[in-house]
Amino acid sequence: MAILLDGKAVSAAVKAQVKTEVAALKEQGVSVGLAVIIVGDNPASRTYVNNKKKACAEAGIVSEEYALPADTSQDELLSLIDTLNRKPEINGILCQLPLPAHLDEKAVIAAIAAEKDVDAFHAVNVGHIMIGDHTFLPCTPAGIMEMLHFYKIDAAGKACVVIGRSNIVGKPMAMLLLQADGTVTICHSKTQRLAEVTARADILVAAVGIPHFVTADMVKPGAVVIDVGMDRDENGKLCGDVDFAAVEPKASYITPVPGGVGPMTVAMLLKNTVAAAKMQNNL
Ligand code: GUN
Repeated sequence: MAILLDGKAVSAAVKAQVKTEVAALKEQGVSVGLAVIIVGDNPASRTYVNNKKKACAEAGIVSEEYALPADTSQDELLSLIDTLNRKPEINGILCQLPLPAHLDEKAVIAAIAAEKDVDAFHAVNVGHIMIGDHTFLPCTPAGIMEMLHFYKIDAAGKACVVIGRSNIVGKPMAMLLLQADGTVTICHSKTQRLAEVTARADILVAAVGIPHFVTADMVKPGAVVIDVGMDRDENGKLCGDVDFAAVEPKASYITPVPGGVGPMTVAMLLKNTVAAAKMQNNL
């Protein structure tokens, strides 16, 4: 029986801390503001954005939603970002990904002012992370590190295997585990003998986006298993990248889906937004 890594409980602790900080800033006359941009009507994106707005409201962070139609042009989106970059009461800007196919995601990320990039997707912030000198950490990997810390799981010297190499999760996750002195391997769709590699992991992070991708034979007995997936199974039910029922008895710790990594992502976004507000107010 594995111990469940309870993202709801850990995120609640982070959010309570953020709320206290936001209140203290308000006392000093500083309000904290986040702009959330969503383009089109991707239902998953809509859910994520709603969760982020709700969490902002609970923490006392002012959120402004910019819901743009799916046929928004690149110029219109860049022009909105330019306006928000200049708006002093907005400390953080988040453009929910993925964007509709006609929009250039890289150019959109590059247009967000680095000091308001609370997702930490901008090349400047990615560079800061690489050299271990960051203001913002990408929310999902940072949330996972926070959860490991909370449960006193130390990555130092451990075999850490990340499945997935996205800019949002896989690559920065590997970097944070490396900074925590883990011995890190990144696996992806071209990895040969994947199960052999993952079965050596003391800490296994699955970020592939395929339901039940990680099966019991891919997991070392006693491993810590982190599931970043937010997938739908054959019945349309929310599930993760890990075959939870089969893997849980083998693991020492495991994240549930839902209630594992997801709530941590939102909590870390709030933390980054407060960090942005402090930096912009020279606090
Ligand atoms: N899409 C999936 N995860 C994220 C995230 O953390 N931030 C943004 N902006 N879009 C996402």
